[in-house]
Amino acid sequence: MIYTVTLNPALDKTATVPGLTVDSVNRIRDLREDPGGKGINVSKVIAKLGGTSRAVALLGGSVGEKIKAMLAEQGIDVWAFEAMGETRTNLKVVDPELGTHTDINEPGPEAGVAQLDAMLSALVGAIAAGDVVVLSGSLPAGAPVGTYDAWCRACAGAGALVFLDADGEALARGLDACPFLAKPNDAELSRLCGHALETEAQVADEARRLVRGGVGRVVVSMGGAGAVVADGERVLLARSPRVKVGSTVGAGDSVVAALAYAQERGMDLEDAVRLAMATGAANVMQTGTQAAERSLVDELLPRVTLERL
Ligand SMILES: Nc1ncnc2c1ncn2[C@@H]1O[C@H](COP(=O)(O)OP(=O)(O)OP(=O)(O)O)[C@@H](O)[C@H]1O
Ligand SMILES: [Mg+2]
Repeated sequence: MIYTVTLNPALDKTATVPGLTVDSVNRIRDLREDPGGKGINVSKVIAKLGGTSRAVALLGGSVGEKIKAMLAEQGIDVWAFEAMGETRTNLKVVDPELGTHTDINEPGPEAGVAQLDAMLSALVGAIAAGDVVVLSGSLPAGAPVGTYDAWCRACAGAGALVFLDADGEALARGLDACPFLAKPNDAELSRLCGHALETEAQVADEARRLVRGGVGRVVVSMGGAGAVVADGERVLLARSPRVKVGSTVGAGDSVVAALAYAQERGMDLEDAVRLAMATGAANVMQTGTQAAERSLVDELLPRVTLERL
């Protein structure tokens, strides 16, 4: 089983507003709503790849109910825990004339320590050896900065393979717990090590350093340039196919989804990385936050290249 964890989910409202102007009345031409938050996005991509997962999420109020219903409609199993307030709505304003994307994000309700502990205990009780637990996204207000550290240790202690995708202090503390896999992007890795990583060789050195520190696998995504991947045996440079970009929102979540799916299917690291790069590229070809079809991923797969560094 793959469990994705979303502690600060959102209803993503994407509004198309041609000629957006500040300090003026703007009219929406098209409006769509999608359940969002990083873990939930990972679950959506896993479903498109043909896999199954359980989306563990803190949800509250009528927006929380709506997200549950939308995910159920997409065939995604939701394990909801009651949030202490209404789940947030994030507004994404797309202006096709200016080619801009403007995000206006709510902070979301606070989470309490007791509530997070109860959620973690329930998850740990459900984990079977070999399950994958994906911890991704920002922490809600009120959550201790070491939340991913504690969750990673507890889930791994129950036999799970933990995948971590976070930023800043949440990432740094989560890495202390030595997850099975971490997927920072190059900017997150630069922030983590405290200096700009300008070359792929520098990225590879930092990835190696994390592996030496006890992280099982490090996948550093680099947008259109692909990814650098390190484990105890090798360092790989993966190149994604060149594609026409629709929207890069959620590209990293697609990579995490493919890696989790591949892990559950018992694929080796090289095949997992190929699938991840094809899934990332297929998803940036989409315009909204909808996940790409598996057929497109399979079409792109032969165009992924891997080399050893
Ligand atoms: N312009 C692009 N062309 C082709 N593939 C891309 C492009 N941008 C991203 N990808 C694919 O998506 C993967 C993840 O992208 P990226 O490194 O931007 O993730 P991220 O910064 O974590 O994104 P997120 O916003 O979801 O957190 C890349 O490794 C690559 O496979
Ligand atoms: Mg990311």
